[in-house]
Amino acid sequence: MSKSPNTVPAVDDELTLSALEGLRKTPKQLSPVWFYDEEGSTLFDSICELPEYYLTRTEMQIMTQHGDDMARRIGPHAALIEFGSGSSDKTRVLLDKLESLACYVPIDISRDYLFETAGSLARDYPSLRITPVCADFTQPFDLPVHIAAAHRRIVYFPGSTLGNFETEAAQRVLTTMRTIIGRKGAVLIGIDLRKDPEVLQRAYNDAAGVTAEFNLNALRHINRELGTDFDVDAFEHSALWIENQSRIEMHLVSTRDQDVHLGDETVHIRRGEHLRTECCHKYTLEGFAELAASADLVVSRVWTDPEQKFSVQLLEPKPIQ
Ligand code: TRP
Repeated sequence: MSKSPNTVPAVDDELTLSALEGLRKTPKQLSPVWFYDEEGSTLFDSICELPEYYLTRTEMQIMTQHGDDMARRIGPHAALIEFGSGSSDKTRVLLDKLESLACYVPIDISRDYLFETAGSLARDYPSLRITPVCADFTQPFDLPVHIAAAHRRIVYFPGSTLGNFETEAAQRVLTTMRTIIGRKGAVLIGIDLRKDPEVLQRAYNDAAGVTAEFNLNALRHINRELGTDFDVDAFEHSALWIENQSRIEMHLVSTRDQDVHLGDETVHIRRGEHLRTECCHKYTLEGFAELAASADLVVSRVWTDPEQKFSVQLLEPKPIQ
């Protein structure tokens, strides 16, 4: 069947099309990829240091306090493969403690940041074999062949980044990890825990307004990259706790009626209408164990802080019956 001319999309560029797709959903969505331009990455680093944002600090505290135990359970001659390595800050704790590490494979989508970090790690750990892989880990990618020589393969996934995926996507990421580690390996993962919604809301809506700036910056980024005309000053940041989904949602709320132009298309945004930019799921220990089980992984150890705000968990393949 031939397409009539008026069914041919007016825009052919992939980024514009996927942005349009999000804005046609109900409620409208804007992909979190728009958070991370240079300004956004700097704002994100500031978020991690905010007094209300307990996640980074607490995870670091758990890594420092229990790193020896983690290293013992991981054992010698492991290949350490990190998903979304970013600054590799927390990884340094492991690199200091792991015995005769075979190699470190940081995987990140942001090429400049990845190679910059790998370079600085190479200076600080001159005898460690570091092989950075620039990839989007939600898509198929290749790992260096030399990881086969290690005793075990360990996937490291800190930062509660898994919580930024919806359930099915999170299952897919866990399944990818399960495939990489094979029968003998393990996953070491940082998972944020459910807690008082007020504490959560404050963590994502800080008094200094840094998270608000971070969220609004996504609009500046998309305006610059795609030539859209979101009126950034006519949006407000909002962080909502959605009880039945056990997640914080970050939204941008339009304070006036506005028309936004993408390619040749116009999207109308009503006053008071929400654009959803991010989901941050919070788990109970039981809930997360269930999610892991759906990817044939068993929780073999959980480390937490004294207040059980955050957890670092060791997952191993479910034994064959
Ligand atoms: N994974 C972390 C979290 O859920 C970091 C993060 C991802 C984040 N996207 C974010 C923090 C958006 C603040 C806003 O908290």
